[in-house]
Amino acid sequence: LIHLLSIEGLPREVLHHILDTAGTFLSVNDREVKKVPLLRGKSVFNLFFENSTRTRTTFEIAAKRLSADVINLDIARSSTAKGESLLDTIANLSAMHADMFVVRHGESGAPYLIAKHCAPHVHVVNAGDGRHSHPTQGLLDMYTIRHFKKDFHQLTVAVVGDIVHSRVARSDIHALTTLGAPEIRAVGPKTLVPGDLKEMGVRVCHDMAEGIRDADVIIMLRLQNERMSGAMLPSASEFAKTYGLTPEKLALAKPDAIVMHPGPINRGVEIDSAVADGGQSVILPQVTFGIAVRMAVMSIIAGNVA
Ligand code: CP
Repeated sequence: LIHLLSIEGLPREVLHHILDTAGTFLSVNDREVKKVPLLRGKSVFNLFFENSTRTRTTFEIAAKRLSADVINLDIARSSTAKGESLLDTIANLSAMHADMFVVRHGESGAPYLIAKHCAPHVHVVNAGDGRHSHPTQGLLDMYTIRHFKKDFHQLTVAVVGDIVHSRVARSDIHALTTLGAPEIRAVGPKTLVPGDLKEMGVRVCHDMAEGIRDADVIIMLRLQNERMSGAMLPSASEFAKTYGLTPEKLALAKPDAIVMHPGPINRGVEIDSAVADGGQSVILPQVTFGIAVRMAVMSIIAGNVA
């Protein structure tokens, strides 16, 4: 593994190796993340062409805990605004001796383009591209599920909400399939659930009660309004009424079901505060695990050469 561009196609052993490696960075109470010298002398460039709170910050923390030098390019103040192309930006940052690019971009495939054009010793990590893939979110979600549920082989996992625009949903579904989860459900209105999921063995449910009944894991997704326009935009209040996760709806899932969300959450739309802040929510542990998972990804790919 030279770059991490997608979860799709990664074998089960590789996924478990990344999760196991992440575990080695966490302390016994799973709250603290150790500092190690694995990336000392390396320069990691964070290039976020789209907004981010969790991913950008945890990549920065992760790279610093690996002892790398971290450079956060402020895209809004960069020469991108003067018309400099993506590949010219990459060429110039490479001339500053970048060893790794962490890239979020609104265009699906942008990290692939960068990986194709940068020098063989430079690594690229996809931090979310368009609606295509968000592999480190998928991995931290799998770490969270494995942490709380131990094993994937008995699990019913419901992914609920705006699936069609969600790179997280796509990455989670690929990872869950590879890791052997026997029942994956995609739950949402017809307009927001892609039809081709059935071909991937995913059970599509337009009825919320059917979708979350007896689930072990519920992954809630927000409406990605920034990827919709005009007639596509659903009404937030209608969506909340039908698919918003309330304590009453959560009671349909298994009593020990965990509730996940990649964030940012929209309280009162896809998730009630009583659920987001409740005893079954693991939304904040997901964020903490993200540091160790991103350390694992960066340290593993940095150790491999083309
Ligand atoms: N989950 C996630 O990607 O959050 P951010 O957009 O804040 O990074």
